[in-house]
Amino acid sequence: MDENRVIIFDTTLRDGEQSPGASMSVDDKVALALQLERLNVDVIEAGFPISSDVQFEGVKLVAAKVRKPTICGLARCIDQDIDRAAAALERAARPRIHTFIATSKIHMDKKFRKSEAEILEMAIKSVTRARGYVDDVEFSPEDSARTGKEFLFRIIEAAISAGATTINVPDTVGYSNPEEFGQLIREIFERVPNMRKAILSVHCHNDLGLAVANTLAAIRNGAQQAEVTINGIGERAGNCSLEEVVMALKTRESFYRKHTAIKTDEIVKTSRMVSKVTGMIVQPNKAIVGANAFAHEAGIHQDAMLKDRTTYEIMTPESVGWGDTKIVLGRHSGRHGLKSRLQDLGYNLGKEDLDKVYERFLKIADKKKEVFDADLEALVGDEIQDFSEAFMLEYFHILSGDKVLPTATIALKHKDTIIQDASVGDGPVDAAFKAIDKIINSPVKLIDYSLQALTGGKEAMGEVHVTIANNGRKFVGRGASTDVIEASIRAYLHAHNRLLHAGSKSESEH
Ligand code: KIV
Ligand code: ZN
Repeated sequence: MDENRVIIFDTTLRDGEQSPGASMSVDDKVALALQLERLNVDVIEAGFPISSDVQFEGVKLVAAKVRKPTICGLARCIDQDIDRAAAALERAARPRIHTFIATSKIHMDKKFRKSEAEILEMAIKSVTRARGYVDDVEFSPEDSARTGKEFLFRIIEAAISAGATTINVPDTVGYSNPEEFGQLIREIFERVPNMRKAILSVHCHNDLGLAVANTLAAIRNGAQQAEVTINGIGERAGNCSLEEVVMALKTRESFYRKHTAIKTDEIVKTSRMVSKVTGMIVQPNKAIVGANAFAHEAGIHQDAMLKDRTTYEIMTPESVGWGDTKIVLGRHSGRHGLKSRLQDLGYNLGKEDLDKVYERFLKIADKKKEVFDADLEALVGDEIQDFSEAFMLEYFHILSGDKVLPTATIALKHKDTIIQDASVGDGPVDAAFKAIDKIINSPVKLIDYSLQALTGGKEAMGEVHVTIANNGRKFVGRGASTDVIEASIRAYLHAHNRLLHAGSKSESEH
């Protein structure tokens, strides 16, 4: 591979999924992995197979269905972890086992109560075992940025000698800064004699908001792979964001003299998909993918932009996939027009699914004169489920005002029967959720609720995300409508249906 190419290793499905509340179903993972393939990432870390059956199945299915990128599974330096990762990756076209062990003094003393010699031996043994299964093995000395340098150099050298093909240097707790981290990478190249026999990767967390800066500093000092997530999601403050690193390298190519293979015009679509699946809304001022990233408000700016866009725009919105938000369809648009627009957006729906979306589309188009791409995407997300729903919304009636007790009547369809119930609540949404709880009769706790307008104007579609918890497991639901109460009901029902679909299987924490 060309030496100026930076390998993009996406860990949205593994480290990203470790964000609080961001757990993904197996089907979510496959859909996202297929989109990551369209985005053209080089490596997809699909999960941590030993940590649960769902994780194992997720890696297994991604490995079977996604053929172009390398598919990677995570494993501690423990035999069973490595065997399980190898089993999950059996059908991968290009499998990689990623094995890790903490090497900082604080982790070795407090977490493992093991000596440097013992940790070194575990690393060598695990890399050797992983190489028995696959040719592509990545080794990470966890908490590298706080690891004593002499030991770090020694364990990296030993891992390469044992067969590691990629060495990943994580700043696990986001402690480093660009000068220090760049220097560490430079020293690894200088002090580890066999470093050039493997790829040097970096993996930065964002606890001090420096993950992207640290990653770029590492690339300036020779790192060849960047570990990233879409929207920067991940443990605590998250991981290095894919879109920011990729666009920094592209926009400032004459400075960095590096490039990636990412199809940047797929970035926004991927970001939206991750946000939908995880229920984690992207902040409006987020670089590249935030709703305001290309919005120009100040009059002076707007005036200059009309004269020449490059006065205030260092990259075009189109280059990252912000299509123009043109009116796509209206109430007179036919089924054919809807089908063809959905195809342009990447949705090839069968007749039954198209009928469902068309029916909802007509209702929305009746209320809203202009239907935008974002509205259509939300409708597809609402109507097309990757599992059969146990309960479907038949109708709802809300009574609300400042002098009445908010009351909701809800009717749900369950196995050809219509079940109706009513409840009062603190507000109309609360009343509706309580009525749903009465019908479904499955105890859940609402732990998060958020509402976002998808497009502008007073008839904008609202998208609601809710997270519910049941027996320690969390489920995200989403719903969209021009009516925020209907969107809330759909989101809550979606979360309940996901819980019912997951059944009583219990997933162990990782
Ligand atoms: O942050 C970290 O150290 C990790 C390792 C498993 C690479 O996620
Ligand atoms: Zn991490």
